[in-house]
Amino acid sequence: MASILTQTKQPVAPPGKNSPASSPPPLLQIDTARLYRDGVGVEGVDRTEVEALAPELRRVHQALVDKSAGGLNAEFACLTLHDSMPATLPAIETAAEQLRRFEDIAVIGIGGSSLGAKAVHQALVDEPGAHRPRLHFLENIDPRNLDVFVRNRSAEKSAVICISKSGGTIETGIQYLILREWLEQQLGKDKARRHQYLITDPAQGWLRDLATREDLASLPVPPRVGGRYSVLTAVGLLPLAAVGVDIRALLAGSAANAARCVSDNPSGNPALELAALFFLLDTRRHKRVSIMMPYADPLQLFGDWYRQLWAESLGKRRGARADDPPAGTLPVTALGTVDQHSQLQMYLESRRDKIFSFLAIDQRESNRRIPLTEHDRKYFPYLDGKHMQDVLEAELQATRQVITETGHPNMTLRLSRLDAHALGQLIDLYQRATVYAGLLYGINPLDQPAVEKGKQLAIRLLGGGR
Ligand code: PA5
Repeated sequence: MASILTQTKQPVAPPGKNSPASSPPPLLQIDTARLYRDGVGVEGVDRTEVEALAPELRRVHQALVDKSAGGLNAEFACLTLHDSMPATLPAIETAAEQLRRFEDIAVIGIGGSSLGAKAVHQALVDEPGAHRPRLHFLENIDPRNLDVFVRNRSAEKSAVICISKSGGTIETGIQYLILREWLEQQLGKDKARRHQYLITDPAQGWLRDLATREDLASLPVPPRVGGRYSVLTAVGLLPLAAVGVDIRALLAGSAANAARCVSDNPSGNPALELAALFFLLDTRRHKRVSIMMPYADPLQLFGDWYRQLWAESLGKRRGARADDPPAGTLPVTALGTVDQHSQLQMYLESRRDKIFSFLAIDQRESNRRIPLTEHDRKYFPYLDGKHMQDVLEAELQATRQVITETGHPNMTLRLSRLDAHALGQLIDLYQRATVYAGLLYGINPLDQPAVEKGKQLAIRLLGGGR
């Protein structure tokens, strides 16, 4: 098997955008004040409710610690990937270097096998394809996606990264089969093999079998790391490294957040606090909708990653009986300022069943000054001397204030700057908070039984399965 893991070539550092400077990279600013009653009014959580939950919080924290011990063998292996993945980085970086000889890379995978890399790519690769391969996340099996890709690319200059933990997801399988046929028709079977990279379970499934039989380059997904928690494995790291994202800084960011989350007291552990507050807002204040609203286009797809993580992990019944209460708040994404002109009316005057998470970036690389003539200044005197970022920030603060005055609990996460380290922190924060929240609800945050049912039914409808 041509597993990249078996190759001995020295690791090559990726071009490395977003490496932290000499001073320690800044930590996320996490402002939860407006989730509490003393910050937002009666719809917020009373601090005594968090105190009363303390024994339960200690219990779930201990469960998380116990189930994270043991590295890749642990049940919550996803929460220690910053420690366990460095051993695999040379293999990932070698594969990434090989991939840089291509102009276009089709990344095929769905759900957790796509959303993480897609989100980080959007956040950090601002000029896709400028001096590196272009990534194309095909994701859906709408036939047009593949047609457009194939029609506009040369097979000679294209590669496919096929990602499926189970190695048998139908959407991913179909896309792979079609692209493999295209590569083989254009290049011949032997050469086409060198344009394919498979990321899948190390031991089982159709893709793993194929990698072995056909001698295709492959990387493993650690067996105990599920799709939506896998962005910090080869699933996310290979495509991202191929386009120059500093994957070591991504892992370092994850480690930095994990280091902030070692206390069993929520006041010293932001992930535990976040889980506790969202749990209490759901179960005590009937907040059923959790809206993530970045005021930054590069973080829009981070909202989609969070949406899947939160929904698939927590949207479950809290027991085996049909009348057991459901868990989880419905995650929704919005974008500031665009959705102020689309959703805000409903946020302000409809049901008070929502929690808001605003995301902001303090220092932006692009920040144009607003050019005004004398005539313009008469109409917009308040814009004199301002930059676009000043307006974005004012709009965020204004929206947050009206949301707060309306009584909606809300929090704000601030990235000092948009880089791989900050993204790594965000990823760890949300993965950790999601696991804590699952433990608080008494559900398994790692499985997705209803999704599996749907996958099986689709196979039956196509004439297969049991
Ligand atoms: O988070 C999950 O487990 C799912 O969203 C999966 O990632 C998705 O269904 C794709 O599965 P696979 O990676 O096995 O192809």
